[in-house]
Amino acid sequence: MAYHITQYDLEQGALEIQYIEEFFGEFPRKKTAAEIIRRLSGRQHLILLATAPLPDDPGTVVPVSFKVVHELRERESEPKLGDLVDRLRDSVRFDGRRVLYTWIGGTRRDWRGQGFFRALTEQQEAWAVEQGFDEIVVKTKNRFYEMRGTLDHLRFEVVKYERNAADNAESKVYLSKKLHAEVLDSHRSAKTVVQVTI
Ligand SMILES: CC(C)(COP(=O)(O)OP(=O)(O)OC[C@H]1O[C@@H](n2cnc3c(N)ncnc32)[C@H](O)[C@@H]1OP(=O)(O)O)[C@@H](O)C(=O)NCCC(=O)NCCS
Repeated sequence: MAYHITQYDLEQGALEIQYIEEFFGEFPRKKTAAEIIRRLSGRQHLILLATAPLPDDPGTVVPVSFKVVHELRERESEPKLGDLVDRLRDSVRFDGRRVLYTWIGGTRRDWRGQGFFRALTEQQEAWAVEQGFDEIVVKTKNRFYEMRGTLDHLRFEVVKYERNAADNAESKVYLSKKLHAEVLDSHRSAKTVVQVTI
């Protein structure tokens, strides 16, 4: 199977993400296009979506999986990102290194377990290596079992665990993957990638 991946510029990509997020009913806090533009403006980022035909209408192709990553700097003025860097400081080296943060992503329920997220992750890693990033970090929660299992398969390592005293299922787990050319050797998804800019 060859995955079809589209790389979007910021404006169009933000609208695409806003659209696909509507299919993730299990997560109440959906990102709006405005929020996505605010977060990504002025920082290096990559917006990828994978598309696939509808099973009962193969002529119609729809977005089924997405992933948004952006750079994370040692000094961040945006309070949320500043807080993230502070929490990561003991576990991830920032000085003189380029760190990429996996902000949001997912695969629509009916297309899960078919390799879409792996294909996007591999494309994102190839881009990150080409752009000179040294490490990718991601944050999840104990209770996001699907995501934890997936990150395990994608060879992310736990670098920090922040216990939630009231409910351990809500505890935060931070994972990372060091990037080097050999990471690309482990990639196995066949894909076509199209770049869309307006
Ligand atoms: C996590 C998620 C993105 C995986 O997407 P996907 O397209 O089904 O993943 P893939 O099919 O590309 O699988 C990638 C790898 O993860 C493994 N994997 C996928 N789902 C898994 C699960 N539920 N448990 C364990 N491993 C899993 C696959 O076996 C595969 O490994 P392999 O390539 O070595 O065989 C998807 O389940 C999802 O969107 N879940 C909801 C999002 C979420 O939990 N968000 C929480 C906020 S962090």
